[in-house]
Amino acid sequence: MKFETPAQTNPIDRLKVVGQAHDRIDGPLKTSGLATYAYEHHREVPNVAYGYVVGSAVGKGRIKSLGLDEARRAPGVVTIVTAQDAGPLGKGDRNTAKLLGGPEVDHYHQAVAVVVAETFEQARAAAALVRVDYERGDGRFDLDELLKTAPLTGGDSQEGSGSSPEHRVGKFEEAFGAAPVKLDQRYTTPDQSHAMMEPHATIAAWQGDELTLWTSNQMIAWNKADMAKTLGIPKEKVRLISPYVGGGFGGKLFLRADALMAALAARAAKRPVKLALQRPLMANNTTHRPATRQRVRIGATKDGTITAIAHESGSGDLENGGPETAVNQTELLYAGANRLTSMRLAVLDLPEGNAMRAPGEAPGMMALEIAIDEMAEQLGMDPIAFRIKNDTQVDPKTPTRKFSERNLIRCMQEGAERFGWDKRRAKPAQVRDGRWLVGMGVAAAFRNHVSRPSGARVRLGRDGVVTVESDMTDIGTGSYTIMAQTAAEMMGLPLDKVVVKLGDSSFPASAGSGGQWGAANATSGVYAACVKLREAVAQRLGFNAADVAFEDGQVRSGNRALPLTQAAQDGELLGEDRIEFGKLGKTFQQSTFGAHFVEVGVDAYTGVTRVRRMLAVCAAGRILNPQTARSQVIGAMTMGVGGALMEELAVDTRFGFFVNHDLAGYEVPVHADIPHQEVIFLDEADATANPLKAKGVGELGLCGVGAAVANAIYNATGVRVRDYPITLEKHL
Ligand code: MOS
Repeated sequence: MKFETPAQTNPIDRLKVVGQAHDRIDGPLKTSGLATYAYEHHREVPNVAYGYVVGSAVGKGRIKSLGLDEARRAPGVVTIVTAQDAGPLGKGDRNTAKLLGGPEVDHYHQAVAVVVAETFEQARAAAALVRVDYERGDGRFDLDELLKTAPLTGGDSQEGSGSSPEHRVGKFEEAFGAAPVKLDQRYTTPDQSHAMMEPHATIAAWQGDELTLWTSNQMIAWNKADMAKTLGIPKEKVRLISPYVGGGFGGKLFLRADALMAALAARAAKRPVKLALQRPLMANNTTHRPATRQRVRIGATKDGTITAIAHESGSGDLENGGPETAVNQTELLYAGANRLTSMRLAVLDLPEGNAMRAPGEAPGMMALEIAIDEMAEQLGMDPIAFRIKNDTQVDPKTPTRKFSERNLIRCMQEGAERFGWDKRRAKPAQVRDGRWLVGMGVAAAFRNHVSRPSGARVRLGRDGVVTVESDMTDIGTGSYTIMAQTAAEMMGLPLDKVVVKLGDSSFPASAGSGGQWGAANATSGVYAACVKLREAVAQRLGFNAADVAFEDGQVRSGNRALPLTQAAQDGELLGEDRIEFGKLGKTFQQSTFGAHFVEVGVDAYTGVTRVRRMLAVCAAGRILNPQTARSQVIGAMTMGVGGALMEELAVDTRFGFFVNHDLAGYEVPVHADIPHQEVIFLDEADATANPLKAKGVGELGLCGVGAAVANAIYNATGVRVRDYPITLEKHL
């Protein structure tokens, strides 16, 4: 089904099942431990051996010699695979560095060997006996130094949203120079790690020349292709199975070393191999969100009209990598006739930088939305009023291009009322609660909407149960549930008459989980498949497909009604289709908007920040399930608190690695760090987006949170920190 014109009224609009709060249908399996994650497919794959990955001990260099004899003799060892004996390997389209290093090493903890043994403990013990002699090379590890000479570089955020190296509208420098009120500030965000609960893990099994991978992955179709390419085998010979994923945050968008090393190990061992990347390996072996150095300049008239706005960002990545697209939102979020956005990319020999939840916008908004707060203060304006004054309903670089839906102002206003914004003192450091200095902060939320083709198959069985099949993944987000809701609505059934099967590359390829596009696109694929199934049902029952309604388990046409089950009496009926998108996404600027409100207390004696209250207001098209959507947003808000106050991969610029590479050293919020959170969804439906009229919230919920916390800290203390994370010593 090609989606080319704005959606008309369709069966989804009844909102009997879609749009209703519902527990996750996979919840009981997960809470009872019955959901099988990648490492847990014991029943499907007997006789597994265990793999343990050896990571490079140098950041940049060359392996001089490998001593494997002692490890080979260790108890239980089955085999050891290194680049020497792995055979020729290609590289997936989406991998920057090789997943198996040697003799050249590209980054610290790049896999250089996998040791396979009868038990995990034996594999681990033997891995410790692998001797690698390195010749250390001259690595480039210091971002600040390298950015001094780094060129302008455009980028794909790996998820497909392209950005040019430099973008200009009007004459920024002139307008900025002439502006009566100006801001010119620099902001920094650190490298961050996805730090998901479930590590990257894979079981690999070969049957002849066919490879099956039970793996933890967000994008099944991408990585089926990339695995085939890496191994140099036909795509048809690779199957990925990933029914449950214990978090990804972008870290599992791509093929990583767990999958490749398991595949190579299983081939060498001639039996299935399972392995999980060891937690201390993950931060340096896999990808991370790159650090940014950002400069924001804003010029305005005295009444608060922005006349000039510039956002420049620098980041680093391995050779042939891409920039963190932190300036994207600044092209679209506020009005202003004269504009400049640009990105610089330094080549670094640190581990690969790549997408982490809301790549681009998440760190970009951390800077821009402090700058807006600072500018409002200079102008003597309330920061909400300043944002409202500079709202735009069109793309500022292409004024003929309207936003499909843009309700930033309503998010701000409804949030302000709900949060009690009128009680905020404009002057900082005015409110004291015992030893706590108390302040409020606000930031806009913004994230683009991305349409991607998505396929699904639906079957109506003789038992009247509809089964949905798609390679879509559920990374803890609720895909199972909203896809079931979609099929239930389309077929006029209650939710318990729908079964959803996901995460298998033998099912139709979906949009996958990434870029907050999963919910809207995957359900649209189910919609398209259900349209086909409805046609098949109508035909089987002898009804006119153009005039048929599916409701309460009945199929109605004119004054005739038959039970849906009757259609499948003589055999299962099938509908399969793929939603594809025409030009609407270019004709209209499709984005999601929100407002984040935060109240913090800062300990007047120690500088410790505690978040006291949080509110998010989101406008993101139709909300398919307010309960799973709320979970996405509160999870994102929590991540935003982590980004504001705690998260940072510390770079050792001498040896080139992330020092705090485990969950003890890489701090993320725990329950005790997070107060009660509130989420409001505006009643919006974006007919230009897809038949569901939905967009996404999974990343919107993060964008802006960091700045809202930073702005609240400033309001509490009068100390402006522009360097994340805002740890207590930075208040001094
Ligand atoms: Mo997201 S960073 O596309 O999983």
